[in-house]
Amino acid sequence: MLRFEAVSQRFGTLEALSNISFDVPDGAFVCLVGPSGCGKTTLLKIAAGLIGASRGRVTLNGAPINTPRREIGILFQQPNLLPYLSTRANVELPLALRGISRPERRTTAERVLHQIGLADFAEVYPSQLSGGMAQRAALGRALVQNPSVLLMDEPFGALDAMTREHMQLELLQLWQHTGKTILMVTHSITEAIFMADRVVVLTARPGRLHTEISVPLARPRHLEMVHSPEFGSLASQLRAQISLA
Ligand SMILES: Nc1ncnc2c1ncn2[C@@H]1O[C@H](COP(=O)(O)OP(=O)(O)OP(=O)(O)O)[C@@H](O)[C@H]1O
Ligand SMILES: [Mg+2]
Repeated sequence: MLRFEAVSQRFGTLEALSNISFDVPDGAFVCLVGPSGCGKTTLLKIAAGLIGASRGRVTLNGAPINTPRREIGILFQQPNLLPYLSTRANVELPLALRGISRPERRTTAERVLHQIGLADFAEVYPSQLSGGMAQRAALGRALVQNPSVLLMDEPFGALDAMTREHMQLELLQLWQHTGKTILMVTHSITEAIFMADRVVVLTARPGRLHTEISVPLARPRHLEMVHSPEFGSLASQLRAQISLA
């Protein structure tokens, strides 16, 4: 379980996060929403071990996270691929940095490239990939270390609506097949309800925990569910909580 324990963050005099506690159970899909600037990205960076919390801590199965760890993958809004490396080399990069041998890298990357639907684009460079494909490659780079936890910061925010729906369904499938734990930041109420078991709502800066809403919709989720009365009522409930936050 990924556990946030009274996490607070200050940047100089700016209070970004205040006393945030919540759990992401193993295998859960949790979405994090809140106004711009409330500290969502900061919270993910703390959970990824990229920055240290000013107060409190984040633990994974009881062990505090102080530095980046292989069990925790992170995906940002922009794919941040290296332009001079092929898709395959970008996906392999975390393994190369760890000094994994070339044949082993190849085998692992091949499996991941199939998993993310980019097997036919392994030799292509980032400038030749569409936005959705580039984000898929970034997902591949996060998956190549087989993390048990995936932290995702508005991963589909820069994509057009149709690509976004497609990627949402793909991610849900991947999640159901692999049993990974996912914590995903989104600005979209629909996306939060569609994807999550539970939605954590933060207040405006300094981000505090406002409320948590559970989403008891059946799995697997289908796009048509978005039009159901149950979905509509959950979305209104979430919208109301966000406006109170
Ligand atoms: N390294 C940093 N140094 C100083 N201030 C920072 C730093 N990182 C973030 N902040 C500040 O902390 C606050 C929270 O930023 P953060 O990026 O976490 O918000 P966010 O919720 O992800 O916003 P958005 O929804 O727009 O992505 C902001 O006021 C930001 O300016
Ligand atoms: Mg952010």
